[in-house]
Amino acid sequence: MRKSAGIALPKGKLGVLTVGMGAVATTFMAGVDLVRRKKAHPVGSLTQLGTIRLGKRTEARAPAIKDFVPLEKLENIVFGGWDIFPASAYEAAKNAAVLSSEHLAEAKPFLSKIRPMKAAFDQNYVKKLTGTHVKKGRNKYDLAMQIRDDIHKFQKKNKVSRTVVIWCGSTEIFLKQHAVYETPEKFVAAMKENHPAIAPSMLYAYAAITMGIPFANGAPNLTVDVPALTELAKQHGVPICGKDFKTGQTLLKTILAPGFKARLLGMNGWFSTNILGNRDGEVLDDPESFKTKEESKLGVLEYILQPKLYPDLYGHIHHKVRINYYPPRGDNKEGWDNIDIFGWLGYPMQIKVDFLCRDSILAAPIVLDLVLFLDLAKRAGMRGIQEWLSFYFKSPMCAPELYPEHDLFIQSMKLKNTLRWMMGEDLITHLGQEYYD
Ligand SMILES: NC(=O)c1ccc[n+]([C@@H]2O[C@H](COP(=O)([O-])OP(=O)(O)OC[C@H]3O[C@@H](n4cnc5c(N)ncnc54)[C@H](O)[C@@H]3O)[C@@H](O)[C@H]2O)c1
Repeated sequence: MRKSAGIALPKGKLGVLTVGMGAVATTFMAGVDLVRRKKAHPVGSLTQLGTIRLGKRTEARAPAIKDFVPLEKLENIVFGGWDIFPASAYEAAKNAAVLSSEHLAEAKPFLSKIRPMKAAFDQNYVKKLTGTHVKKGRNKYDLAMQIRDDIHKFQKKNKVSRTVVIWCGSTEIFLKQHAVYETPEKFVAAMKENHPAIAPSMLYAYAAITMGIPFANGAPNLTVDVPALTELAKQHGVPICGKDFKTGQTLLKTILAPGFKARLLGMNGWFSTNILGNRDGEVLDDPESFKTKEESKLGVLEYILQPKLYPDLYGHIHHKVRINYYPPRGDNKEGWDNIDIFGWLGYPMQIKVDFLCRDSILAAPIVLDLVLFLDLAKRAGMRGIQEWLSFYFKSPMCAPELYPEHDLFIQSMKLKNTLRWMMGEDLITHLGQEYYD
C-alpha cells in the first residue's frame, strides 16, 4: 500500500538540539554554517547531494532528493544543545581540532553564539569525564522535566515551529535490557526512584518524545532502544532512530562484506583495530564504554554473512574489534582491517585495508541527514522506529521480531524506496524484465 503524498510542508524554523556539543556536533554545526554561506560543499550528505531515480530507466527521471521530498532548507535551521562543559560551540570546535584554522575562523561568529545548556549527567555512566556544567535535581524524573523546560525555552526564544533532538554525546557504559524498560509506567517509576538502569541519555529521549519531538541516537548506548520509549514514541506520534553513527571502519565493513557474501567467498576471520586520540577515544578507553561500542561493532558481520545459512563459508569466523586511545592522532583515526577470506577449493587469501579517516568529517553529514529526514518523517505522520534510516547506523534499531539489516546497499534501497512510497511513486525492484518483453 502506498502512502499518499499528504506530507505537511515545512513552515517556520526547525530547531536542532544536539545532546553533547563535542567534535561531531560542532563539526556538523560549523559545516551547515559554511555550506549555507557557500563556503564549502556538503560532501557525504544524501539530503543535499543525492538524487533518486523515479519510474522506468527509459523515463530518465532522477530529481535531487531535496527537490523530490519536502525537506527543510538549511537556511531555516536554528541550533542549540547541552554539554557537561560550558564552552561555546566555537571553543568546543577549536578544542576538537577537526576543522582547519581557516574554516574555524570563518565559522567563529556563528559558533560563538551557540552556548550549551546544563547537562543531565552522571559520571557513573561515562567514567572518564567529570562534568562542571551539570544540572541538579531531586531525582532522574526531575532532571527529565528540567530538560523539557530547556526545550520549551529554546523553542520560544528562537521561535521554532518544529524541533529535533539528536544524541551526539559520549558513549555511556554498557546496559542490558531491564524490567524497568518494559512499559512507560515502569520507566517513569524507575526515573522517580533513581534506578541505576536509567542512564542520562534516556532522560533526554524521554523528555523529547513526550513533547512530540523526534529523537535520534548517534552513540551505541541503549537510550531510546527500549520498549517503554518506543511505545511512548508511538503514543506521541514521534519518529525515533538509532544507534551509533555508521562512519569509518564499520561503514567499510558493511560495504565489503556484502560483496564477499554475494560472490560466496568464504571467510575465516576479520581483525579490526583502530587508533584514535579524540575525546571519544578517551571515553572508549574505559572498558565499560568500550563494551557498548564493541557490541555495536561486532553484530554487523553476523547479520550480513548469515553463518547459519552458510556454515561452510562463514561458520567459523574470528571477528575481533579493538580501539586504542592514542592522543597524537586526535580526530584523524586510523582503522586497520585484516580480512582472511578463501576461494574456490578453499584456497586462502588476505585483504588489508588501512583507512586513514576523519571521524567527525564522516559523522557530520549523517547528523544533518538524520535531522532532516526525522523532521520529514514527523510531518509525514510516521511514528516509532524508522528502520529506513538504518543506512546511517552501525547497530540499527528494528522491531523486536526482526533482525537488523546491515548491508549498506539494501539499506540504501530501503531508504530510497521509502521516499518513493512517501511521495506515491512506484517502488523500484530492479527486475527490469519489461525492457526485454
Ligand atoms: N565517527 C564518529 O565520530 C562517530 C561514529 C559513531 C558514533 N559516534 C559517537 O558519537 C558520540 C559523539 O562523538 P564525538 O567524537 O563528538 O565525542 P566528543 O567526546 O567530542 O563529544 C561528546 C560530548 O558529549 C558530552 N556529553 C557527555 N555526556 C553528556 C550528557 N549526559 N549530556 C550532555 N553532554 C554530554 C561531552 O562532554 C562531549 O563534549 C560518541 O558517543 C561517539 O561514540 C561518533
